[in-house]
Amino acid sequence: MRGLLTLKSLSQQEIMDIIELAIRFKKGWTINFPGKKMVNLFYENSTRTQYSFQMAMINLGITPLSFNLASSSVAKGETLYDTVRTFESLGVDGIVIRHSQDVYYRDLESIKVPIFNGGDGSSDHPTQTLLDLMTIYEEFGYFEGLKVALVGDISHSRVAHGNAEVMKRLGMDVYVSGPSQFADQTAKFIELDDAVEKCDIINLLRVQFERHQEEMQITKEEYHERYGLTVARVANMKPKAIIMHPAPINRGIEIASEVAECSKSRIYKQMENGVYIRMAVITMALEGRL
Ligand code: NCD
Repeated sequence: MRGLLTLKSLSQQEIMDIIELAIRFKKGWTINFPGKKMVNLFYENSTRTQYSFQMAMINLGITPLSFNLASSSVAKGETLYDTVRTFESLGVDGIVIRHSQDVYYRDLESIKVPIFNGGDGSSDHPTQTLLDLMTIYEEFGYFEGLKVALVGDISHSRVAHGNAEVMKRLGMDVYVSGPSQFADQTAKFIELDDAVEKCDIINLLRVQFERHQEEMQITKEEYHERYGLTVARVANMKPKAIIMHPAPINRGIEIASEVAECSKSRIYKQMENGVYIRMAVITMALEGRL
């Protein structure tokens, strides 16, 4: 399949090529694809991913088609495959999909148009991983040996799962932290107070309330005290260490409100980099390189 479904199938060199192209776009390099059209099919809510893909299309001279899930034939029961096949027949040049089903793209193997995964269930979110890596690369200039803690609702987080796989491959020392209710085998466990002292990157994750089958075992206040990045914890971070979060953020739960905008936070830079990463993956796909 063409496009970008997961980073698992890309080599380290291919991942670096995407980041380098995104950095070129950030420095002002431009390219245009006149006459091309793309569509965002978001079966789950999204602000950053959806609109930064749209922004990336516009920056590349591509016309984005608007798709409204509620008023589309999905509401009549049309399947993902039939919806995608429809847009392919209409003649779009690329399709961005976010869906609650893990690895939804298995059903789309016969589709020829490039597909960009905007997040699948709790499994993967490749453009988020790339923009996180770009942010880390801009900060440190390398990956090998950096210590990163993924903190929070690990088991429900596609960002944790996607990031951990690639970060390990790039030679980073990956840890997870958070409540045992949300733990899985993604990486070795570290207590949050140790993580803030040791790690170069604290990669916070949103508590994924909408995916929980059972209620959280502790209150939001307890979560913040035990597993949240408080002002006091930030004071114990290494001088050059940074804070990341894919957002949306739950202020007062996984992150103190003041911390979101403190000097260590790269949360808004991540959003900015997301546009350049999406420009890079669309460009490479339209050039036949992805
Ligand atoms: C993430 C997502 O949707 O997976 N957000 C994003 O894409 N920026 C994380 C989240 O929703 O918690």
